[in-house]
Amino acid sequence: MPSLSSRLSRVKPSSTLAMTGKVLELQQKGVKVVGFAAGEPDFPTWEHVCEEAHDAIRRGEFRYTAVGGTPQLKQAIRTKLERDNGLTYSDAEVIASCGGKHSLYNAMQAVLDEGDEVLIPGPYWVSYPDMAALSGGVPRFVMASEANGFLLTAAELEAALTPKTKLVILNSPSNPTGATYSEAQMAELGRVLAAHPSCWVIADDVYENIRYDGTRPRHMVAMEPALRERAIVCNSVSKTYAMTGWRIGYTAAPTAVVKAMTTLQSQSTSNPSSIAQAAAASALSGSQSMVEPMVAEFQKRRDYICQRINAIPGLSVQVPGGAFYVFVNCAGVFAKAGVADGDALALKLLEGAHVGVVGGNDFGSSDHFRISYATAMQQIQAGMDAIETYLQGL
Ligand SMILES: Cc1ncc(COP(=O)(O)O)c(C=O)c1O
Repeated sequence: MPSLSSRLSRVKPSSTLAMTGKVLELQQKGVKVVGFAAGEPDFPTWEHVCEEAHDAIRRGEFRYTAVGGTPQLKQAIRTKLERDNGLTYSDAEVIASCGGKHSLYNAMQAVLDEGDEVLIPGPYWVSYPDMAALSGGVPRFVMASEANGFLLTAAELEAALTPKTKLVILNSPSNPTGATYSEAQMAELGRVLAAHPSCWVIADDVYENIRYDGTRPRHMVAMEPALRERAIVCNSVSKTYAMTGWRIGYTAAPTAVVKAMTTLQSQSTSNPSSIAQAAAASALSGSQSMVEPMVAEFQKRRDYICQRINAIPGLSVQVPGGAFYVFVNCAGVFAKAGVADGDALALKLLEGAHVGVVGGNDFGSSDHFRISYATAMQQIQAGMDAIETYLQGL
């Protein structure tokens, strides 16, 4: 067999998708497994959004669209950025892609060269280092402390930036920790970044609406306009609108970045699905009133799950301010479980408790595992019972 691309040796498969796959495999064999691995809301996509997709089909929107998205979707993205983030962008500064992952990947492809350093605050989403590596970048990590709620301080960011840093990736609320920066904290990070003009800044905002402090902070780029010419704002309809399968992400950035991303897209995927674009435009520009009840439901689950975990000897969790994840410190049960890290414990929990959680190694911490509580309360209760019983029985 001829050899495979050496580029791919730089990346590994997504560990969250791998665990989701293992859970599905067991479920298909008839084993009752509680899946806490998948990072997607369990709510249906809103009725009027689905209706818009049907209408797009009825209207016959079956053709290729402009590579970077239909005028309607671009307008909806611009409306959203203005309404929610106080950011004004032109059509030439926004691009729709096939999911937020695709937006982030194309953005990194657009700005990174071989050997460029990418500063990633940790614990971090599993895909950032691999996307950076695929784009020739060299990931460097700056870990936020658990005692500080996994929030990076401005001083820590400042100390980690070097003249070689080409890109910084910020993600608030965070996957996997749920750490959520306040407006004041984000403003401080913004000030530090504004003073380092040689690097690009990606703001991964996919969880921006899932925060529990009831605030809607100003966007870092709105607070620090000097950053606008270096900021790449990535977002997606996946989490806010329970539209993970529709695959629409979007980016707002300086024209040169969007142009480069459009060129890349024109030679790879072309436009995202025309039907999904129509649905996403409707979600972004229509009433947002259904976001709040979903967030309220997530908050109930967060409160329940944190209380249950903190009652289990050897496990502990920082109550997170957003997203739908908890990053559980499980180092206290390693000896009892005969394991050396969170990944090994995750496998034990799958086999012994029939609960699918994701080990923390690929998020940057071997002392943790991640639970996604984007699943029904009944499942969460069953899963917590199973974890508790299993650990008690060791
Ligand atoms: C931090 C973060 N960014 C981006 C994404 C991309 O989501 P999608 O590709 O579904 O838009 C995810 C999905 O899990 C995520 O957790």
